[in-house]
Amino acid sequence: MLNRFQFSRLRPRRRSNAPAKDPKGAPAKAPARVVCIASGKGGTGKSVMASNLALARTRMGERVLLVDFDAGLANAHLLLGLAPDFDLGHVMEGRVSAHDALVDGPLGMKLLSGGVGRDALINPTRRELDRLFKSLRAMEDEFDLIIIDHGAGMGYSTVAHLAATSTLILVTNHEVTALSDGYALYKRAMMVNKSLRVGLVVNRAPDERLAQAAWERFRAASQRFLGLQPEFIGWVPADPAVGHSVQARIPAVMSAPESAAAKAISGIAQWTPIDHARTTSAFYERARKALR
Ligand SMILES: Nc1ncnc2c1ncn2[C@@H]1O[C@H](COP(=O)(O)OP(=O)(O)O)[C@@H](O)[C@H]1O
Ligand SMILES: [Mg+2]
Repeated sequence: MLNRFQFSRLRPRRRSNAPAKDPKGAPAKAPARVVCIASGKGGTGKSVMASNLALARTRMGERVLLVDFDAGLANAHLLLGLAPDFDLGHVMEGRVSAHDALVDGPLGMKLLSGGVGRDALINPTRRELDRLFKSLRAMEDEFDLIIIDHGAGMGYSTVAHLAATSTLILVTNHEVTALSDGYALYKRAMMVNKSLRVGLVVNRAPDERLAQAAWERFRAASQRFLGLQPEFIGWVPADPAVGHSVQARIPAVMSAPESAAAKAISGIAQWTPIDHARTTSAFYERARKALR
């Protein structure tokens, strides 16, 4: 499907949020669109997907922020070759503002790193999360697109994000364990947010037949038990270029743009719902409400 796209089409283009005017006539930027990236099982490739999508969308002309919310076990900074001074833990503690914790990434994208081994982030209280979301609200005015990379599973903070977002990319691989855990996450997400738009990516698939079979299995189970199904965004082949890019700390869309995985991810970056990933009120305000 999308994997057969001509990716040379990925030329820069600015998708401006057509500058609306506020009542006084000054141009008011619409708040950032927000896309969450999650999975049931760990290691399915969320962070690889999130870092590559962030770069692909930056290349398309957007101001992109990647928030690494794999609280306590962050690694997006490693995939991007960055060494942040500050992370979400510092923001949560009120030591720096979210803006001051941003790190410059490749092509001009920004990263807000998660913390590594920080207790406060692994088990935040409701109050701490509320304070963090409140600080992050300002980021919606600075960016066109915020991509949030979650840890695996259905932790409290992930569920609050899922309740607040309009758009989720669910990353699985073709194995039955990942599909089953992915289905559990999908079910939970639809329970907390009935209007959520969910796209499924089958990552690290040995071939197209197995990727399609995995999608069919997921689709059939979702329809049977929930009467709903996500959209199939596409699949990404298991590709040694990804492992090399992780070693080199430069995501594959930059370091190996002609690789099969990079082309597939560039296709996924064109998923139309990413252009419309907005809710009626600010995302982080909705996330704060979801905590109550
Ligand atoms: N399409 C792929 N082909 C080959 N290896 C992959 C692919 N996607 C991910 N990987 C490998 O899987 C590892 C785990 O990916 P990661 O994105 O960190 O998973 P998660 O964030 O879901 O825990 C990466 O270090 C990478 O080497
Ligand atoms: Mg990860």
